[in-house]
Amino acid sequence: MHDQQIRHAVLADPNHDELARQGFVSNLRIHVMTTVSDGTRQVYERKVRPAFEKAHRRVPKDRHEVRKAMEPEAHYQNWSALLRTTQELMWDSVGASVERQLPDLMARARTSGKTRGSLRLDPALRVPGYQAAVDTHVMPGSYHTDLMEGDVFAGAIYDRGLYIYAMGGLGPLNADIGGSGAAYIRQNFPNMKPKRILDMGCTIGNSTLAWADAFPDAEVHGIDLGAASLRYAHARAESLGHRVHFSQQNAERTDFPDGHFDIVASAVLLHETSSPAIAAILRESRRLLRPGGVMCHVDVPQVEGDAFDLFIPDWDTYNNNEPFMGRMRDTDIARLAQGAGFSRYFHGDAPVVRSATKTGVTFRGGEGKKGKPWHVYGAVA
Ligand SMILES: C[S@@+](CC[C@H](N)C(=O)[O-])C[C@H]1O[C@@H](n2cnc3c(N)ncnc32)[C@H](O)[C@@H]1O
Repeated sequence: MHDQQIRHAVLADPNHDELARQGFVSNLRIHVMTTVSDGTRQVYERKVRPAFEKAHRRVPKDRHEVRKAMEPEAHYQNWSALLRTTQELMWDSVGASVERQLPDLMARARTSGKTRGSLRLDPALRVPGYQAAVDTHVMPGSYHTDLMEGDVFAGAIYDRGLYIYAMGGLGPLNADIGGSGAAYIRQNFPNMKPKRILDMGCTIGNSTLAWADAFPDAEVHGIDLGAASLRYAHARAESLGHRVHFSQQNAERTDFPDGHFDIVASAVLLHETSSPAIAAILRESRRLLRPGGVMCHVDVPQVEGDAFDLFIPDWDTYNNNEPFMGRMRDTDIARLAQGAGFSRYFHGDAPVVRSATKTGVTFRGGEGKKGKPWHVYGAVA
Protein backbone atom coordinates (compact mmCIF):
# COMPACT_ATOMS: atom_id res chain seq x y z
CA MET A 1 0.00 0.00 0.00
CA HIS A 2 1.30 3.46 -0.88
CA ASP A 3 0.40 5.07 2.40
CA GLN A 4 -0.08 8.76 1.69
CA GLN A 5 -2.87 9.44 4.14
CA ILE A 6 -2.31 12.91 5.55
CA ARG A 7 -1.42 12.81 9.24
CA HIS A 8 -3.31 14.98 11.74
CA ALA A 9 -3.63 15.13 15.53
CA VAL A 10 -6.09 12.25 15.95
CA LEU A 11 -5.21 9.86 13.12
CA ALA A 12 -4.06 6.54 14.59
CA ASP A 13 -0.48 5.97 13.50
CA PRO A 14 0.14 2.30 12.74
CA ASN A 15 3.38 0.74 13.97
CA HIS A 16 5.49 -1.43 11.65
CA ASP A 17 3.48 -4.63 12.04
CA GLU A 18 0.09 -2.88 11.94
CA LEU A 19 1.08 -1.05 8.76
CA ALA A 20 2.19 -4.34 7.18
CA ARG A 21 -1.18 -5.91 8.02
CA GLN A 22 -3.12 -2.91 6.72
CA GLY A 23 -1.04 -2.89 3.53
CA PHE A 24 -1.72 -6.59 3.02
CA VAL A 25 -5.48 -6.05 3.40
CA SER A 26 -5.51 -3.13 0.97
CA ASN A 27 -3.59 -5.09 -1.67
CA LEU A 28 -5.73 -8.18 -1.15
CA ARG A 29 -8.79 -6.01 -1.70
CA ILE A 30 -7.38 -4.64 -4.97
CA HIS A 31 -6.73 -8.23 -6.12
CA VAL A 32 -10.23 -9.43 -5.18
CA MET A 33 -11.93 -6.37 -6.71
CA THR A 34 -10.07 -6.73 -10.01
CA THR A 35 -8.67 -10.14 -10.97
CA VAL A 36 -11.05 -12.31 -8.94
CA SER A 37 -14.06 -10.14 -9.89
CA ASP A 38 -13.25 -10.55 -13.59
CA GLY A 39 -13.51 -14.31 -13.13
CA THR A 40 -16.97 -13.96 -11.58
CA ARG A 41 -18.24 -12.24 -14.71
CA GLN A 42 -16.66 -14.91 -16.91
CA VAL A 43 -18.39 -17.66 -14.92
CA TYR A 44 -21.69 -15.87 -15.44
CA GLU A 45 -21.23 -15.26 -19.16
CA ARG A 46 -19.75 -18.63 -20.09
CA LYS A 47 -21.69 -20.93 -17.80
CA VAL A 48 -24.48 -19.53 -15.65
CA ARG A 49 -26.33 -17.35 -18.17
CA PRO A 50 -26.31 -19.99 -20.96
CA ALA A 51 -27.60 -22.61 -18.49
CA PHE A 52 -30.31 -20.21 -17.28
CA GLU A 53 -31.35 -19.40 -20.85
CA LYS A 54 -31.53 -23.07 -21.72
CA ALA A 55 -33.70 -23.86 -18.68
CA HIS A 56 -36.00 -20.81 -18.85
CA ARG A 57 -35.87 -19.81 -22.55
CA ARG A 58 -35.10 -16.23 -21.54
CA VAL A 59 -32.36 -14.18 -19.89
CA PRO A 60 -32.49 -13.54 -16.11
CA LYS A 61 -35.00 -10.75 -15.59
CA ASP A 62 -33.40 -9.06 -12.59
CA ARG A 63 -30.44 -9.08 -10.17
CA HIS A 64 -32.28 -11.43 -7.79
CA GLU A 65 -32.51 -14.16 -10.43
CA VAL A 66 -28.82 -13.70 -11.22
CA ARG A 67 -27.95 -13.97 -7.51
CA LYS A 68 -29.91 -17.21 -7.09
CA ALA A 69 -28.24 -18.68 -10.17
CA MET A 70 -24.76 -17.55 -9.12
CA GLU A 71 -24.87 -18.56 -5.45
CA PRO A 72 -24.16 -22.28 -6.05
CA GLU A 73 -21.07 -21.45 -8.17
CA ALA A 74 -17.72 -22.22 -6.54
CA HIS A 75 -15.97 -19.21 -8.09
CA TYR A 76 -18.69 -16.84 -6.87
CA GLN A 77 -18.60 -18.41 -3.40
CA ASN A 78 -14.83 -18.02 -3.35
CA TRP A 79 -15.00 -14.35 -4.47
CA SER A 80 -17.76 -13.58 -1.98
CA ALA A 81 -15.95 -15.28 0.93
CA LEU A 82 -12.71 -13.50 0.04
CA LEU A 83 -14.43 -10.12 -0.09
CA ARG A 84 -16.19 -10.65 3.24
CA THR A 85 -12.99 -11.95 4.83
CA THR A 86 -11.08 -8.94 3.50
CA GLN A 87 -13.66 -6.66 5.09
CA GLU A 88 -13.31 -8.40 8.47
CA LEU A 89 -9.50 -8.42 8.22
CA MET A 90 -9.58 -4.71 7.44
CA TRP A 91 -11.46 -3.85 10.62
CA ASP A 92 -9.23 -6.25 12.61
CA SER A 93 -6.09 -4.57 11.28
CA VAL A 94 -7.40 -1.07 12.01
CA GLY A 95 -9.28 -1.84 15.24
CA ALA A 96 -6.25 -3.33 17.02
CA SER A 97 -4.10 -0.37 16.05
CA VAL A 98 -6.70 2.16 17.24
CA GLU A 99 -7.34 0.28 20.49
CA ARG A 100 -3.62 0.35 21.31
CA GLN A 101 -3.57 4.14 20.86
CA LEU A 102 -7.06 5.00 22.11
CA PRO A 103 -6.18 6.71 25.43
CA ASP A 104 -3.64 8.86 23.62
CA LEU A 105 -6.06 9.72 20.79
CA MET A 106 -8.77 10.65 23.31
CA ALA A 107 -6.31 12.88 25.17
CA ARG A 108 -5.31 14.56 21.91
CA ALA A 109 -8.98 15.12 20.98
CA ARG A 110 -9.60 16.69 24.41
CA THR A 111 -6.62 19.04 24.34
CA SER A 112 -7.06 20.50 20.90
CA GLY A 113 -6.43 23.98 22.38
CA LYS A 114 -8.11 27.12 21.10
CA THR A 115 -10.77 26.13 18.60
CA ARG A 116 -11.98 27.78 15.41
CA GLY A 117 -15.16 25.73 15.02
CA SER A 118 -17.41 24.07 17.61
CA LEU A 119 -18.82 20.77 18.88
CA ARG A 120 -22.31 20.35 20.32
CA LEU A 121 -23.26 16.88 21.62
CA ASP A 122 -26.70 15.65 22.68
CA PRO A 123 -26.48 12.64 25.02
CA ALA A 124 -30.30 12.29 24.85
CA LEU A 125 -30.36 11.78 21.06
CA ARG A 126 -32.02 8.46 20.13
CA VAL A 127 -30.19 6.51 17.43
CA PRO A 128 -32.82 5.29 14.94
CA GLY A 129 -33.28 1.54 14.57
CA TYR A 130 -31.98 1.44 11.00
CA GLN A 131 -28.59 2.55 12.36
CA ALA A 132 -28.63 0.88 15.78
CA ALA A 133 -29.57 -2.62 14.55
CA VAL A 134 -26.46 -3.38 12.49
CA ASP A 135 -22.73 -2.84 12.56
CA THR A 136 -22.83 -1.06 9.20
CA HIS A 137 -20.38 -2.58 6.69
CA VAL A 138 -19.08 -4.81 9.52
CA MET A 139 -17.47 -1.85 11.28
CA PRO A 140 -17.19 -2.83 14.98
CA GLY A 141 -19.73 -0.79 16.93
CA SER A 142 -20.75 1.05 13.75
CA TYR A 143 -20.71 4.86 13.81
CA HIS A 144 -22.76 5.57 16.91
CA THR A 145 -21.23 3.44 19.69
CA ASP A 146 -19.88 5.67 22.44
CA LEU A 147 -17.61 3.53 24.60
CA MET A 148 -16.87 6.05 27.36
CA GLU A 149 -16.62 9.74 28.19
CA GLY A 150 -14.50 11.43 25.52
CA ASP A 151 -14.45 8.35 23.23
CA VAL A 152 -13.21 8.74 19.63
CA PHE A 153 -12.97 5.05 18.65
CA ALA A 154 -15.67 5.12 15.93
CA GLY A 155 -14.11 8.13 14.23
CA ALA A 156 -10.58 6.75 14.44
CA ILE A 157 -11.45 3.39 12.88
CA TYR A 158 -13.58 5.00 10.16
CA ASP A 159 -10.82 7.40 9.09
CA ARG A 160 -8.15 4.73 8.76
CA GLY A 161 -10.58 1.99 7.64
CA LEU A 162 -12.02 4.13 4.83
CA TYR A 163 -8.54 4.88 3.52
CA ILE A 164 -7.76 1.17 3.32
CA TYR A 165 -11.23 0.18 2.03
CA ALA A 166 -10.97 2.74 -0.78
CA MET A 167 -7.40 1.58 -1.44
CA GLY A 168 -6.29 5.20 -1.05
CA GLY A 169 -8.56 6.14 -3.94
CA LEU A 170 -10.54 8.78 -2.05
CA GLY A 171 -7.39 10.83 -1.71
CA PRO A 172 -5.04 11.54 1.19
CA LEU A 173 -7.85 13.06 3.30
CA ASN A 174 -10.64 10.68 2.18
CA ALA A 175 -12.31 13.81 0.82
CA ASP A 176 -13.19 12.93 -2.76
CA ILE A 177 -16.90 12.16 -2.32
CA GLY A 178 -17.64 15.56 -0.79
CA GLY A 179 -15.19 17.08 -3.27
CA SER A 180 -17.17 15.56 -6.15
CA GLY A 181 -20.41 17.05 -4.82
CA ALA A 182 -18.85 20.48 -4.36
CA ALA A 183 -17.34 20.32 -7.87
CA TYR A 184 -20.78 19.42 -9.28
CA ILE A 185 -22.35 22.46 -7.61
CA ARG A 186 -19.55 24.77 -8.76
CA GLN A 187 -19.97 23.55 -12.35
CA ASN A 188 -23.76 23.62 -12.46
CA PHE A 189 -24.43 26.62 -10.21
CA PRO A 190 -21.49 28.90 -11.04
CA ASN A 191 -23.12 31.93 -9.39
CA MET A 192 -23.70 30.16 -6.10
CA LYS A 193 -22.04 32.00 -3.21
CA PRO A 194 -23.30 30.08 -0.19
CA LYS A 195 -23.32 31.71 3.22
CA ARG A 196 -24.17 28.50 5.07
CA ILE A 197 -23.65 24.85 4.13
CA LEU A 198 -24.87 21.77 6.00
CA ASP A 199 -23.29 18.32 5.56
CA MET A 200 -25.65 15.61 6.86
CA GLY A 201 -24.23 12.29 8.10
CA CYS A 202 -20.75 13.81 8.24
CA THR A 203 -19.08 11.08 10.40
CA ILE A 204 -15.47 12.37 10.69
CA GLY A 205 -16.01 15.47 8.54
CA ASN A 206 -13.89 14.16 5.66
CA SER A 207 -16.42 15.29 3.06
CA THR A 208 -17.42 18.32 5.14
CA LEU A 209 -13.91 19.73 4.83
CA ALA A 210 -14.10 19.39 1.06
CA TRP A 211 -17.16 21.69 1.10
CA ALA A 212 -15.27 24.12 3.35
CA ASP A 213 -12.36 24.09 0.90
CA ALA A 214 -14.64 24.67 -2.10
CA PHE A 215 -16.50 27.56 -0.45
CA PRO A 216 -14.05 29.16 2.01
CA ASP A 217 -16.38 32.09 2.82
CA ALA A 218 -19.25 29.86 3.92
CA GLU A 219 -20.13 28.90 7.49
CA VAL A 220 -20.00 25.10 7.37
CA HIS A 221 -21.93 22.71 9.63
CA GLY A 222 -21.72 18.93 9.94
CA ILE A 223 -24.26 16.73 11.73
CA ASP A 224 -24.24 13.06 12.65
CA LEU A 225 -25.82 10.64 15.12
CA GLY A 226 -22.54 9.47 16.65
CA ALA A 227 -20.83 11.31 19.50
CA ALA A 228 -17.51 9.45 19.13
CA SER A 229 -17.47 10.19 15.39
CA LEU A 230 -18.20 13.87 16.02
CA ARG A 231 -15.58 14.32 18.76
CA TYR A 232 -13.09 12.91 16.30
CA ALA A 233 -14.43 15.08 13.45
CA HIS A 234 -14.06 18.23 15.55
CA ALA A 235 -10.50 17.45 16.64
CA ARG A 236 -9.57 16.43 13.09
CA ALA A 237 -10.96 19.62 11.53
CA GLU A 238 -9.20 21.78 14.11
CA SER A 239 -5.93 19.98 13.58
CA LEU A 240 -6.23 20.50 9.82
CA GLY A 241 -6.95 24.22 10.34
CA HIS A 242 -10.65 24.27 9.44
CA ARG A 243 -13.55 26.13 11.02
CA VAL A 244 -16.53 23.73 11.05
CA HIS A 245 -19.45 23.50 13.46
CA PHE A 246 -20.35 19.93 14.35
CA SER A 247 -23.50 18.89 16.19
CA GLN A 248 -25.10 15.58 17.15
CA GLN A 249 -28.45 15.56 15.40
CA ASN A 250 -30.76 13.34 13.41
CA ALA A 251 -30.87 14.49 9.77
CA GLU A 252 -34.56 13.57 9.68
CA ARG A 253 -35.33 16.45 12.05
CA THR A 254 -32.71 19.00 13.11
CA ASP A 255 -32.90 22.06 15.36
CA PHE A 256 -31.80 24.55 12.68
CA PRO A 257 -34.39 27.19 11.70
CA ASP A 258 -36.36 27.07 8.42
CA GLY A 259 -34.47 28.35 5.37
CA HIS A 260 -31.16 28.52 7.28
CA PHE A 261 -28.89 27.04 4.58
CA ASP A 262 -27.91 27.76 0.99
CA ILE A 263 -26.67 24.20 0.42
CA VAL A 264 -27.74 21.01 2.20
CA ALA A 265 -25.43 18.16 1.26
CA SER A 266 -24.50 14.64 2.24
CA ALA A 267 -21.96 12.06 1.14
CA VAL A 268 -22.95 8.39 1.12
CA LEU A 269 -25.61 8.93 3.78
CA LEU A 270 -28.74 7.92 1.85
CA HIS A 271 -27.81 4.30 1.10
CA GLU A 272 -27.24 3.64 4.80
CA THR A 273 -30.73 4.75 5.83
CA SER A 274 -34.17 3.17 5.48
CA SER A 275 -36.71 4.21 2.83
CA PRO A 276 -38.88 6.23 5.28
CA ALA A 277 -35.70 7.90 6.58
CA ILE A 278 -34.64 8.94 3.05
CA ALA A 279 -38.06 10.55 2.56
CA ALA A 280 -37.74 12.34 5.93
CA ILE A 281 -34.18 13.52 5.13
CA LEU A 282 -35.37 15.01 1.83
CA ARG A 283 -38.25 16.78 3.64
CA GLU A 284 -35.80 18.15 6.20
CA SER A 285 -33.41 19.24 3.42
CA ARG A 286 -36.30 21.17 1.86
CA ARG A 287 -37.27 22.80 5.16
CA LEU A 288 -33.68 23.89 5.82
CA LEU A 289 -33.06 25.48 2.42
CA ARG A 290 -33.72 29.12 1.66
CA PRO A 291 -35.69 29.75 -1.57
CA GLY A 292 -33.28 29.01 -4.42
CA GLY A 293 -31.02 26.96 -2.14
CA VAL A 294 -29.65 23.65 -3.42
CA MET A 295 -29.82 20.10 -2.08
CA CYS A 296 -26.87 17.89 -3.08
CA HIS A 297 -26.87 14.32 -1.77
CA VAL A 298 -23.93 12.39 -3.25
CA ASP A 299 -24.28 8.63 -3.22
CA VAL A 300 -23.81 5.40 -5.14
CA PRO A 301 -25.23 5.48 -8.67
CA GLN A 302 -28.49 3.78 -9.49
CA VAL A 303 -26.82 1.20 -11.67
CA GLU A 304 -27.95 0.74 -15.24
CA GLY A 305 -27.07 -2.24 -17.34
CA ASP A 306 -27.99 -5.88 -17.57
CA ALA A 307 -29.09 -7.96 -14.59
CA PHE A 308 -25.48 -9.00 -13.89
CA ASP A 309 -24.34 -5.36 -13.68
CA LEU A 310 -27.06 -4.84 -11.06
CA PHE A 311 -26.23 -8.02 -9.18
CA ILE A 312 -22.56 -7.24 -8.38
CA PRO A 313 -23.11 -4.00 -6.41
CA ASP A 314 -25.96 -5.72 -4.55
CA TRP A 315 -23.39 -8.04 -2.93
CA ASP A 316 -23.11 -5.59 -0.01
CA THR A 317 -26.84 -5.78 0.71
CA TYR A 318 -26.67 -9.49 1.50
CA ASN A 319 -23.09 -9.99 2.65
CA ASN A 320 -21.64 -6.80 4.04
CA ASN A 321 -24.18 -5.42 6.54
CA GLU A 322 -25.46 -2.79 4.11
CA PRO A 323 -29.12 -3.79 4.34
CA PHE A 324 -30.47 -0.72 2.54
CA MET A 325 -28.02 -0.60 -0.36
CA GLY A 326 -30.18 -2.54 -2.86
CA ARG A 327 -33.37 -0.73 -1.94
CA MET A 328 -31.74 2.70 -2.22
CA ARG A 329 -30.67 1.88 -5.77
CA ASP A 330 -34.33 1.09 -6.57
CA THR A 331 -35.74 4.17 -4.81
CA ASP A 332 -37.37 6.82 -6.94
CA ILE A 333 -35.56 9.81 -5.42
CA ALA A 334 -37.22 12.20 -7.89
CA ARG A 335 -40.64 11.19 -6.57
CA LEU A 336 -39.51 11.53 -2.96
CA ALA A 337 -38.02 14.96 -3.69
CA GLN A 338 -41.31 16.02 -5.23
CA GLY A 339 -43.16 14.70 -2.17
CA ALA A 340 -40.77 16.74 -0.01
CA GLY A 341 -41.89 19.92 -1.78
CA PHE A 342 -39.06 20.37 -4.30
CA SER A 343 -40.15 21.34 -7.79
CA ARG A 344 -36.78 21.30 -9.59
CA TYR A 345 -35.17 17.87 -9.16
CA PHE A 346 -31.89 17.08 -10.90
CA HIS A 347 -29.40 14.27 -10.82
CA GLY A 348 -26.19 13.37 -12.57
CA ASP A 349 -22.71 11.93 -12.29
CA ALA A 350 -20.43 14.06 -10.16
CA PRO A 351 -17.09 15.00 -11.71
CA VAL A 352 -14.38 12.59 -10.61
CA VAL A 353 -12.06 14.50 -8.33
CA ARG A 354 -8.57 13.17 -8.68
CA SER A 355 -6.82 13.73 -5.42
CA ALA A 356 -3.09 13.94 -5.02
CA THR A 357 -2.56 10.23 -4.62
CA LYS A 358 -0.13 7.89 -6.23
CA THR A 359 -1.99 4.71 -5.45
CA GLY A 360 -3.29 4.58 -9.01
CA VAL A 361 -6.78 3.77 -7.75
CA THR A 362 -9.70 6.16 -8.14
CA PHE A 363 -12.45 4.85 -5.91
CA ARG A 364 -15.73 5.59 -7.59
CA GLY A 365 -19.33 4.94 -6.69
CA GLY A 366 -18.47 2.29 -4.16
CA GLU A 367 -17.44 -0.41 -6.62
CA GLY A 368 -13.71 -0.06 -6.75
CA LYS A 369 -11.48 0.64 -9.66
CA LYS A 370 -14.05 0.05 -12.38
CA GLY A 371 -17.02 1.68 -10.67
CA LYS A 372 -19.06 4.56 -12.01
CA PRO A 373 -18.56 8.10 -10.71
CA TRP A 374 -20.38 9.23 -7.59
CA HIS A 375 -23.92 10.37 -8.32
CA VAL A 376 -25.61 13.59 -7.24
CA TYR A 377 -29.29 13.47 -6.23
CA GLY A 378 -30.28 17.10 -5.96
CA ALA A 379 -32.98 19.69 -6.18
CA VAL A 380 -33.48 23.44 -6.02
CA ALA A 381 -35.75 24.76 -3.26
C1 LIG B 1 -21.20 6.28 5.23
S1 LIG B 1 -21.22 7.35 6.55
C2 LIG B 1 -20.91 8.90 5.76
C3 LIG B 1 -19.50 9.24 5.78
C4 LIG B 1 -19.05 10.58 5.31
N1 LIG B 1 -20.10 11.49 4.97
C5 LIG B 1 -18.10 10.38 4.16
O1 LIG B 1 -18.15 11.18 3.23
O2 LIG B 1 -17.28 9.44 4.19
C6 LIG B 1 -22.88 7.58 7.00
C7 LIG B 1 -23.03 8.44 8.25
O3 LIG B 1 -24.38 8.86 8.32
C8 LIG B 1 -24.74 8.89 9.68
N2 LIG B 1 -26.19 8.82 9.75
C9 LIG B 1 -27.02 7.80 9.39
N3 LIG B 1 -28.29 8.14 9.58
C10 LIG B 1 -28.29 9.40 10.06
C11 LIG B 1 -29.29 10.32 10.46
N4 LIG B 1 -30.56 9.99 10.41
N5 LIG B 1 -28.91 11.52 10.91
C12 LIG B 1 -27.62 11.88 10.97
N6 LIG B 1 -26.62 11.07 10.60
C13 LIG B 1 -26.95 9.84 10.15
C14 LIG B 1 -24.04 7.69 10.29
O4 LIG B 1 -23.92 7.85 11.68
C15 LIG B 1 -22.70 7.74 9.55
O5 LIG B 1 -21.78 8.48 10.27
